Amino acid sequence: MQKDIHHKKFTSIVILTGAGISAESGIKTFRDEDGLWENHRVEDIASPEGFQRNPKMVYNFYNERRKQLLSNEVKPNRGHMALAQLENDFKGQTTLITQNVDDLHERAGSKSVLHMHGELLKMRCQFTNQVFLTKKSFDEKTACLCCHKPGALRPHIVWFGEVPFYMDDIQRVLEKCDLFLSIGTSGQVYPAAMFMQVARQQGALTIEINKDPTANSPLFDKTFHGKAGDILPDFISNFFA
Ligand code: OAD
Repeated sequence: MQKDIHHKKFTSIVILTGAGISAESGIKTFRDEDGLWENHRVEDIASPEGFQRNPKMVYNFYNERRKQLLSNEVKPNRGHMALAQLENDFKGQTTLITQNVDDLHERAGSKSVLHMHGELLKMRCQFTNQVFLTKKSFDEKTACLCCHKPGALRPHIVWFGEVPFYMDDIQRVLEKCDLFLSIGTSGQVYPAAMFMQVARQQGALTIEINKDPTANSPLFDKTFHGKAGDILPDFISNFFA
């Protein structure tokens, strides 16, 4: 049965975004052809063990990504803008959960974004867990802003084997949402990959918007295949029509 998609029916929307929403802003996804993981071993640059083995390489990887994010070429695209409009216009509750570590949702105007995999523009002291904003590169020689020790600061990024942020908040909103949108994510990384099933078990309408079909596509109530920047503006306008 085709469920109707109209904003008046919904009170609580959860949106999960992944690398695909930022692809049209010039940021590489992870698993597409020429994706970030293609040229790197994930265990080298996205695990605590990799950081211990070769901190220089890990600092360098995130410093380069931060520089690119702050370069003039990268800016929010129509997909980010449409989601900010949804948050602004929708009378009920919206929660935007992103797996992305960029700040493009915020730059587009989204106000509350749960960065479950961390943020590129933040660094964290490994001893005190204090988090600091940074637009600059930092490495093993940088003195920590709280404990002053060199090498204490690490990227504020969730690596494989670490627990994502905001999991309690996320569980709470998933349990009461009536519309779940998954946008630009391959659904290969847990726990984000199972959010759709939690929402679905609560009776939420589940919609996937992704360039290509994913392994989870058959489980969604509705799927739209194409670029997020092409699909989302019309999708959001029709939602409020
Ligand atoms: P992936 O690279 O796994 O998947 C990106 C998805 O976006 C793919 O299914 C593409 O088909 C789709 N896509 C590409 N361009 C698109 C566009 N313009 N519009 C819509 N969809 C598009 O990235 P994620 O699913 O986000 O974690 O990866 C999840 C996590 O894996 C990341 O947060 C990262 C990585 O390991 C950490 O680093 C902790």
